[in-house]
Parts: sequence; C-alpha cells; structure tokens
Amino acid sequence: MGQIRIGVLGAYRGTSMINYCEQSSRARVVAICDKNPEALQRQKDQLNDPSVAWYDNFDSFIEHPMDAVVLANYANEHAPFAIRCLEKGLHVFSEVLPCQTMQEAVNLVEAVERSGKVYAYGENYCYMAGPREMRRLYQAGEIGEFEYGEGEYIHNCAPIWPSITYGERDHWRNNMYATFYCTHSAGPIFHITGLRPVSVVGFEGTKNQRRLEGGSKAGQFGMEIITLNNGGIIKSIHGDLYKNSIWYTVYGSKGRMETAREDAKMGDSGRIYVNSDAYAGEYGPERLSTYLPVSDERSAAFSHGGSDYLCMDEFVKRIQGDETADTIDVYQALDMFLPGMFAYRSVLQGGVSVAVPNLRDKAQRDAFRNDTACTDPHVAGDQLLPVFSKGTPEIPESVYDHVKELWEKEKNGGDYVKAAMTQGSSKK
Ligand SMILES: NC(=O)c1ccc[n+]([C@@H]2O[C@H](COP(=O)([O-])OP(=O)(O)OC[C@H]3O[C@@H](n4cnc5c(N)ncnc54)[C@H](O)[C@@H]3O)[C@@H](O)[C@H]2O)c1
Repeated sequence: MGQIRIGVLGAYRGTSMINYCEQSSRARVVAICDKNPEALQRQKDQLNDPSVAWYDNFDSFIEHPMDAVVLANYANEHAPFAIRCLEKGLHVFSEVLPCQTMQEAVNLVEAVERSGKVYAYGENYCYMAGPREMRRLYQAGEIGEFEYGEGEYIHNCAPIWPSITYGERDHWRNNMYATFYCTHSAGPIFHITGLRPVSVVGFEGTKNQRRLEGGSKAGQFGMEIITLNNGGIIKSIHGDLYKNSIWYTVYGSKGRMETAREDAKMGDSGRIYVNSDAYAGEYGPERLSTYLPVSDERSAAFSHGGSDYLCMDEFVKRIQGDETADTIDVYQALDMFLPGMFAYRSVLQGGVSVAVPNLRDKAQRDAFRNDTACTDPHVAGDQLLPVFSKGTPEIPESVYDHVKELWEKEKNGGDYVKAAMTQGSSKK
C-alpha cells in the first residue's frame, strides 16, 4: 500500500500528527478540520501547503477523499466521531480518551468489529523510550510475571490553564472528573504487560484550590488501585499535584524495571533501570543495569520524548499491512480507560471496589448499552454525574472572565501559539 492519506480533526494537538505527516514518507496530510476559525487560520499559515484542504465542519471534512482520520478534537467527544469515520470505511487514530460513557464504549467496540478497519489509540506515553523498552523486556520474560506496578502522570497545569481551556466554563478540561484522564499513568503498564483490569478502587484528591482558581470543577487529582486478571495490582495516579512527574515501575516474579524520576535528572522516562535475577529465587548479587534506550532518530524532534512520532508511525505501518506494528487496539484502549471511569463510580460509592467489564466478551456488553453516566450534560441525560464527588462547585463568572483575559494576552504575545503549532504542543 502506498502513502496513507490522512485527515486531521482538531488543529491544536493535531499539529503533532500533521508534523508527523510532514516528516514521514509513509503518509501525507490531505485535509484539516477545525470549527475554530482562529485555530484553522494559524495552522494554515504555519503549514503553508496548497495541497491541503481546509474544513470548518466535520460533515464536509469526512467526505474528503482520504484513508484515515486522526481525532484530536475534545477528549470527551472521540467515540461518536470515531464511529462515523469507521462506518465511512476510514481507519482511525484516536487521541486520549477513547469515550466518555459505557454506552459509547460498547458502540465503539462494535463499530470497530463491524468495520474491519484499524483503530489505534494514541496513548503516546506507551511509546516513550523507557516504557517502550520495558514492554520489550517484559515480553522477553526479563522480570517474570507481573505482580505490581505504578504509573504516575502528574502535571501541574495551573500555569497553562488559560491556554488549554480558553476561559470556557464548559471546556472538557473544566468538566472532567478527577479519575477521567487516567491513561497516561495506567496505560503504559497495561501495554507493557498485556494484562487487563478486573476491578478498581478509586480515590479523589480533595484539596483543589488551585483548580478552582482556573475554573476546573473537579478534584485535584485521581488515583486508581486496579486489580488485574492475573491477580497483580496497579497504582495509577494522575492530576494536578504541584510538581510534575512521569514515572513507571513494574515488579515481576524475578525482578523489577523502572524509569528515572525527574528530580534525578537522568533522562526521566527516557531512562530505564532493570534489576532482575536469572530465575526466581536466585537472590544473587544485585544485577542492576541502567541505560537510555535508543529510539528511532526521526522521533527526536517530537514532543513527549519522541513518542508523538512513534505512535503515529506504528498506526500508519499497521494500515500498510504490517501485522507486527505496535498499535493499541480498541480493547486495550478500554482496558486503559475503564479503570478511571469505574474508579469514579467507586469514589461516588464511598470507596468500594467496583468490577471493570471486559468488552471483548459480547455477553458483558448488554448491561451497559443504555449507560450514559458522565459529567457531560449533553450526553448524560438523566444519568448526569457531579464533576466533584461532594457536588459540582459553583464557580463565579469572574473566574472565567479572568482566565479568558489571560488567554487573550498570551495569544497576542504569540509564545504559546508558536510552541503549540511547531511541536504539537507540550500540553496535557
Ligand atoms: N497525548 C497527549 O500527550 C496529548 C496532549 C495534548 C492533548 N491531547 C488530547 O488532544 C485532544 C485535543 O486537545 P487540545 O489540547 O488540542 O485542546 P482542545 O480539546 O481544546 O482542542 C480541540 C480542538 O478541536 C476543535 N474541535 C472540537 N470539536 C470539533 C468539531 N466537532 N469540529 C471541528 N473542530 C472541532 C476545537 O475547535 C479545538 O481547536 C484531546 O483529546 C486531548 O486529550 C493529548
């Protein structure tokens, strides 16, 4: 198969995938869609490519001749657009998160199954050098069978909140509950091990003054304690603690692997430490090795440790028929996301353990076909959830007016826009 023709929905984060197409000989961008005229115009100026078609609405965009669509639109609206693309015979690369309700999860799985098209979940943190190497080593049996793991995605977004929510009261980032954005932390552990979740206990950070000042209604951070199908356990934590951290550790039956802590200044999640025995019970002298796994050098200029390049490249290779391409399918996408969704149900029920369904099993789907519970009033109907477990806070309009002012100032200064447009944004 020749070059893949790609359409991109969403002109902010979508920049990263557009940049991939500019760099790669495997794919080219043929159409870009954004309903925000400013974002579309900035992208047009930046790209300056007369062969690209520009759309301000999805209905016209989806009619453009192309092979695949990248969904870099709002994080809570991916599933309905993914389903429309699949039904049209297009391959789909979905940014995080895969869906926002169980009803959407079931519909998405069934649309992928009916279509026979490639659905790849863009959980780019799996493709950072450390987690990617941990997957290779785990699959090779280096640390034995998974027993325990931790994933952290801590991002103090207070300084960038104006440039990622624009002062919009109902922006998805202001309406997502604490455990919603869970796949940067839990996702790599699922991808490394190939295991799936069976139950979860959720926790919600309650000291959320910084969030309220930016207009976010949710708890400060989310945490999931997830039990897996082999009995192993993951601790996943993500959200707005004060200092940033991206970190993964995995314990197996004969060893441990982990990435570097950011404060160690040793290469962050680009570095890996491996401490394993030749066989369980050897208890020999410690055999610690550490290195910076080498990635494809074409990825070096891309954000998130080059992972933004690699996850797109694997998607394109899969479309071109490479069965070994390392993509995240719809089932694993939901393995990564459902623990966060059900963790919030756990929080709302006072911290009980909640079962996580396996939607590979058709028999488990029926219980959720009418489940629209979420924090988006346009989708939830009479199953609307509060954004914070103790009740959605009332935030005065003056907070959003202030954030809007900051965003306008930043835009006119140009710094944020420049960074976002060239690198595909370092945003959450
Ligand atoms: N994986 C990562 O590292 C990473 C980093 C940043 C953002 N993201 C994800 O990327 C996505 C986009 O985030 P963002 O930071 O660009 O901010 P955003 O969600 O505010 O921007 C989305 C863009 O899509 C456009 N859009 C939304 N619905 C549309 C529609 N129906 N038709 C046309 N255009 C539409 C909006 O106008 C906006 O320009 C989210 O899913 C987010 O989770 C992922």
